[in-house]
Amino acid sequence: MNRPYIFCHMLTSLDGKIMGNYMDLPACEPAGDLFYDIAFGEDPFYRHQGWLSGRVTTDDNFTHYRAPALTPGAPTVPEGDFVAQQAPMYYVSVDPKGKLGWESATLTYETTTAHVIEVLTEEASNDYKAFLRKLGISYILAGKDRLDYALALEKLKTRFGIQVLMLGGGGVLNWSFLQAGMCDEVSLVVAPAADGNPNTQSLFLAKEGLSTDAPLSFTLLGAETSEGSTLWLRYRVNYGPATQAP
Ligand SMILES: NC(=O)c1ccc[n+]([C@@H]2O[C@H](COP(=O)([O-])OP(=O)(O)OC[C@H]3O[C@@H](n4cnc5c(N)ncnc54)[C@H](OP(=O)(O)O)[C@@H]3O)[C@@H](O)[C@H]2O)c1
Repeated sequence: MNRPYIFCHMLTSLDGKIMGNYMDLPACEPAGDLFYDIAFGEDPFYRHQGWLSGRVTTDDNFTHYRAPALTPGAPTVPEGDFVAQQAPMYYVSVDPKGKLGWESATLTYETTTAHVIEVLTEEASNDYKAFLRKLGISYILAGKDRLDYALALEKLKTRFGIQVLMLGGGGVLNWSFLQAGMCDEVSLVVAPAADGNPNTQSLFLAKEGLSTDAPLSFTLLGAETSEGSTLWLRYRVNYGPATQAP
């Protein structure tokens, strides 16, 4: 399959939560710094060209649940994908129906600047595509009413030159890609903290219509201790016969 190498890189609590007020503890700071440095620091481990995020993660962090400023009845856009520009780093947003209220084609995450690519299905409207074009946001079409994973990933590689892609959460996005066979490695930075909240998202979350609770197994690639009781764990995802119980 012609797709980028994909690693899922996440910061978690001791109990596998990717959100929550445990993140406000000073004890979580070294883990937060290590999480950033591994992927985005001056000498990063993976050297990816883009990171993929689910629609909820993007709304929580960048678009803040704004409605997109659509022009109703916008002139019909040309068919197919829209490559606005090439960039050294891309933020790849999985937004099948076209809901996100972007205001710019560029975002900044700490010290990292990235060009936004929207991954849409054919359910996204002409008005939404016209809105993205007006802002200079690239988009690719992958699937009719469900995400076509292989097509999306092939386009990210061939149209934008993404050779290594970070699967960057949240839990719903992560699990859907893992179950679809579209994740090679999981990289977890585990903070020595927890808050016991029963309602926050965990690292992997099945969602009806996107994924199920069919299990997967993993093989440890590395385990390192770091400053402040932080752990960095790397696993290969076992697909095929390796996922069966011995
Ligand atoms: N600790 C960390 O390292 C870390 C990293 C990233 C995110 N987070 C946190 O995780 C939280 C969000 O996680 P979440 O699991 O609730 O949501 P999510 O994975 O960010 O977003 C889920 C939504 O994305 C779209 N989507 C995801 N996978 C899809 C697929 N395979 N096909 C089609 N659409 C797909 C769907 O959008 P529609 O609903 O529009 O159909 C789905 O409802 C945020 O609060 C964020 O801050 C933490």
